[in-house]
Amino acid sequence: MKIRIHTQETGKPTGDLFGIFFEDLNHAADGGLYPELVQNRSFEFSPIDHPDYDAMTGWQILEGTGRVRASVQYGVAVSEKNPHYLCLDIQEPGEKTGVRNDGFAGGMYLKGGEAYRFSCYAKREQDLEEPMTVALVDEDGRALVQISQILTSRWERYEMDLIPLTSAKAGHLEMYFAGRGKVYLDLVSLMPEDTYKGLPFRKDLAEALEALHPKFLRFPGGCLVHDGALDPRARDSMYRWKNTIGPIEDRPARRNNWNYNQTLGLGFYEYFLLAEAIGAKPVPVISAGYDPHHHREAPITEMWPWTRDALHLIEFANGDDQTEWGAKRAAMGHPEPFGLEYLAIGNEEVGEAFFDRYKIVLDAVRRKYPDIKIIGTAGPFNAGGEFERGWARSKETNTDIVDEHYYMAPEWFLKNHDRYASYDANGPKVFLGEYASWGNTWYNALCEASYMTGLEQHADVVALAAYAPLFCNENYVNWKPDLIWFNNHEVRLTPNYEVQKQFMLNQGEETIPVSLSEFEPIVQETEEALTGDILLGTDDTTVQYTDIAVRNADTGEIRTFSDIQLGPKDRPRRLDTIHWNRYTIRVKAKRLEGQKGFCLCFARKDDDEQLKLTVGGWQNQDLILTQFTGGRGSDLSQYLFTVKPDQIYDLTIRVDGREVTVYVDQNEYQDLYVKPLIVQPLYTSCVREDKDWILKVVNVTEETQRSVIDFEGRLHMSGTRLVMRGKKEDTRVSTQEDDFTMQSGDEVAFPPMSLTILKVHERFLEK
Ligand code: AHR
Repeated sequence: MKIRIHTQETGKPTGDLFGIFFEDLNHAADGGLYPELVQNRSFEFSPIDHPDYDAMTGWQILEGTGRVRASVQYGVAVSEKNPHYLCLDIQEPGEKTGVRNDGFAGGMYLKGGEAYRFSCYAKREQDLEEPMTVALVDEDGRALVQISQILTSRWERYEMDLIPLTSAKAGHLEMYFAGRGKVYLDLVSLMPEDTYKGLPFRKDLAEALEALHPKFLRFPGGCLVHDGALDPRARDSMYRWKNTIGPIEDRPARRNNWNYNQTLGLGFYEYFLLAEAIGAKPVPVISAGYDPHHHREAPITEMWPWTRDALHLIEFANGDDQTEWGAKRAAMGHPEPFGLEYLAIGNEEVGEAFFDRYKIVLDAVRRKYPDIKIIGTAGPFNAGGEFERGWARSKETNTDIVDEHYYMAPEWFLKNHDRYASYDANGPKVFLGEYASWGNTWYNALCEASYMTGLEQHADVVALAAYAPLFCNENYVNWKPDLIWFNNHEVRLTPNYEVQKQFMLNQGEETIPVSLSEFEPIVQETEEALTGDILLGTDDTTVQYTDIAVRNADTGEIRTFSDIQLGPKDRPRRLDTIHWNRYTIRVKAKRLEGQKGFCLCFARKDDDEQLKLTVGGWQNQDLILTQFTGGRGSDLSQYLFTVKPDQIYDLTIRVDGREVTVYVDQNEYQDLYVKPLIVQPLYTSCVREDKDWILKVVNVTEETQRSVIDFEGRLHMSGTRLVMRGKKEDTRVSTQEDDFTMQSGDEVAFPPMSLTILKVHERFLEK
């Protein structure tokens, strides 16, 4: 095998290729990166956020030896933006009588000897000499530190520093009130003073981001951005960036798309600060007035609030302090501009309604800020009708960069590692804004590494790429996989993180063409045709299937089956096992009850290995062909399709070898080739950074692979070598670094299941 580095060819700049994507899901912000320890600090939690929430979520009344009545009241206490506050009526004063906050799941991690800043707004019904006592307590209720403070009968902000003597992994905040009568509380906060660079970010989590050396930070989501009401004043409004800046008192609590509450303590100003602090370029994502989850759309004639938000955001980031929004940034403490270069309009939206709105926002930004690079979207699928629409509309509008997202089986990444070879380097560039293989094992990470060599080689097409999403609090899992897992005191870096980190640390300045030759591909799927069981199922519906037939296209043989009716709870019904090379499955389907549609499985070996056609999937909106490999799904292609009740649909799947064509009522929806799994013994890419050549080599096989490395005539080379290794299912990875020397023609051994990074300095590359 030979890896040849085409040293004489012109390199292509790698630009801002590898970065990160932060979405506030899995409690990545509140209960995560945002270091607030008090959950529901302003008593604003509501069933709108989550059906189990109420204004006292996270709080408990402590009666101790006294008696208290508690109620959450509504009115203007601290800010009209956060109108709820707590009233404690101390009817019988006593020991430990007051209120307690449990923090986020797992309790508050309190470190002995570290300072915590407590603050709250409070007032008493009347001036009293008896104080409020604030205590940090351990899991057994023992006070680690406590301080008392007299309150007045006016709303005032109180602040105190608390230093627990010893640590507690699951501690609490308790507040006791001596004396009789009513006490009012709002915005009760407890933050560690030791934060990342003194900014409002949990230190260990932010340090993990800095260590990646990302080129950019995409924020604040994801679906988080586009789900919600159109009116920014609505309690469940979409994420509107203007709600997220200014004093935290005035940031209105909002429902988070991921079923919890967001205080917005981590807002756009903080995201810009974070990007700056970790050395990444900010890539904010905003909505264009379209909620794809609930099909809410701003009237096309009333798009000005959305265009204005976009323009103001750029001014907020880049304007000087003489501009309205630049002045707001300066007032928050950052007079220098943030140097915004990119703006993403939309996340995964599909359909014409979105693109009409997108264009309005895009045109407005273009007119005022022609240098800002606009990122459009190609939806949440890697191929199909909406993906193509996204690209077509982006080309028509001269969008600079198009955001692609896909989460797939690891094998999909191996099969598609050269995906971007066919893209037009003169068209809009690609932002691979979210991608990951389903899982956090070493095998997942390695398959992603193989894919990243492809991204790197095609850096002229792929401008930006980010693994998604960054964080997961292990107590609140909305979405997997994620790059960094944590609880209230620990951080677990995944193998995927280690891979991302090495690619970011070794991104180089320009990518140099590399070719792999003289190797035998490893054919892991030998079957020529897509054969196996055929099953009919439902997607939470009651369905009637009639006129069911499978026809052998080579012999003309037809097998027919009796009608089938399935309810939402019924298991899929197996029809037959097919070993033909060319065949057609035909069935008439009618939805009798339910909201979605039908599903047909074919070429099925078992639950883990099969193809599945879903008609009316997700919110009865999609027609998707999914391939399952090792139990993990890869959506191969998607089209918009809605199943109507009581309508009969004529569904046809034509299989020709590995080609699948899908028709509904004779209209073609899918036509694609299902690639067999053929693995390269090695995947590789090379970049240059100043005088260093950096070669990345990925071996996803369980054997050592050997290859000559041809630096075109250089006979001798030496440098440093980093090898990351692990076993397939490992969730930790071992890394070794050493020096290496090699003569021309030497074979280099690449260990099983490894990522190797060879760094050779020009002066050690001798002729
Ligand atoms: O990253 C999780 C979700 O996946 C994002 O919110 C969305 O953009 C994608 O579908």
